[in-house]
Amino acid sequence: MTLTPRATATLVTVAYLISASCFIIGLKRLSSPRTAVKGNLIGAVGMLLAVLATLVQTGVGSLGLILAGLAIGSVIGALLALKIEMTAMPQMVALLNGFGGAASALVASAELFKILPHGTNASAFVTVPIILGALIGWVTFTGSLIAFAKLQEIMTTAPITYPGQNIFNMILSAVTLVLAVLIVRDPTRVSYFWILSALSAVLGVLAVIPIGGADMPVVIALLNSYSGLAACATGFAINNNALIISGSLVGASGVILTAIMCKAMNRSLANVLFSAFGSAPEEGTAAAAGATGTVKGYDAEDVAIVFDAAQTVIIVPGYGMAVAQAQHAVRELADLLKERGTTVMYAIHPVAGRMPGHMNVLLAEANVPYEELLDLDQVNPHFPEADVALVVGANDITNPAARTEKSSPIYGMPILDVDKARTIVVLKRSMRPGFAGVDNPLYTLPQTMMFFGDAKASLMKLIQELKELGS
Ligand code: TAP
Repeated sequence: MTLTPRATATLVTVAYLISASCFIIGLKRLSSPRTAVKGNLIGAVGMLLAVLATLVQTGVGSLGLILAGLAIGSVIGALLALKIEMTAMPQMVALLNGFGGAASALVASAELFKILPHGTNASAFVTVPIILGALIGWVTFTGSLIAFAKLQEIMTTAPITYPGQNIFNMILSAVTLVLAVLIVRDPTRVSYFWILSALSAVLGVLAVIPIGGADMPVVIALLNSYSGLAACATGFAINNNALIISGSLVGASGVILTAIMCKAMNRSLANVLFSAFGSAPEEGTAAAAGATGTVKGYDAEDVAIVFDAAQTVIIVPGYGMAVAQAQHAVRELADLLKERGTTVMYAIHPVAGRMPGHMNVLLAEANVPYEELLDLDQVNPHFPEADVALVVGANDITNPAARTEKSSPIYGMPILDVDKARTIVVLKRSMRPGFAGVDNPLYTLPQTMMFFGDAKASLMKLIQELKELGS
């Protein structure tokens, strides 16, 4: 049975509508770890449907080439997904965003050649999306490659800055915009289009190099949103509803995620993008010299005695837990404490670690039950009644200076009220500051016990001591 072109168009529209619904339901489900796996699957089914619907349309090009591309891409994607370490997920996402941006830019460029015969009569409804698709797409591609290189430590993670940097970037952006206007007025100026594409690629590099490696997760969320906008623009250029809808969803969710991260750090997006946060502290400053004040170091035996008597323990994981890969040891300690009748909770700060949901993912890997993970608002009221707050490689997210020190770079950032617990046990290797580069007065409080060493090794020693105490 062959369908009439009208029937095919209706079928494709219905399929796109169903796939768009799948994207929305999938996104909603991704907002909780409990429903995320199903959400991911629903989104993937939606995408498969959209791809199939696109293929049944007439004029999509050589089916053989498309299928070969699909097969090669699927094999590379599956291999990468199987091989990639959980801690390398941010750079993987950066690469995927970058490829998305490049794909949109290439499709937009191809579309320009289709409208060339119309000359200056080409509609701005087509030329504007083509230019936006190429511009945002190339910015996303090269910006994402730099984000990848910084996170993979292929290049320096420190911000790269030079005098007049922002002004230079602004001039370059202005030149790009002028070119964009000239191309809209006369799309046959193909050489201008290539210059615009090249300048966009340079802009992507220049926009990301002044941002420190530790701020990359925010940048990646923003670039993710750009890749969505590029796809959306390209969707308008080729008149494809599925691309317009999915691009808008990616664009909007990327912006929301960026805003959530900035809010949780109490920093504006402009501060993340332009302040070169994470530069080395100046020689002689408190942060450069390490924390001052009296700190008291304890060994595993001392710490085990405190845990032995504790009724309620709140575990506060941070970036150091990820570095030490201590999540399984954390779970082992929690299990041991629970066997002994101790109540155990986990306090999860929204920007603990270096990527959204970093701690949730690591703890899920160690099979920690979701219901034991409490977010900031849920857990803070419990700290005053906790016998022990165990800080596992967390620093900035526990810093009480964020509440009181107006001059602190993290002033105003909501923190976990660890300082309100009866005893605080801190696992870290040294007195070096965390990501924000500021001292943490938590370490000099009278009720704080510093247990120096790699978090995993310290936890193993502590578990051993506790077992000996219990036998
Ligand atoms: P940090 O403040 O960076 O502190 C991590 C601590 O872990 C350090 O003080 C470090 O001290 C310790 N550490 C490192 N390796 C260790 C190991 N092997 N064993 C034991 N301790 C180890 O981390 P946080 O408290 O999780 O805060 C996150 C920071 O990142 C915030 O400032 C946040 O704004 C920023 N940030 C987060 C995100 C997201 S989305 N999560 C995105 C961008 C920026 P030693 O070196 O002395 O061991």
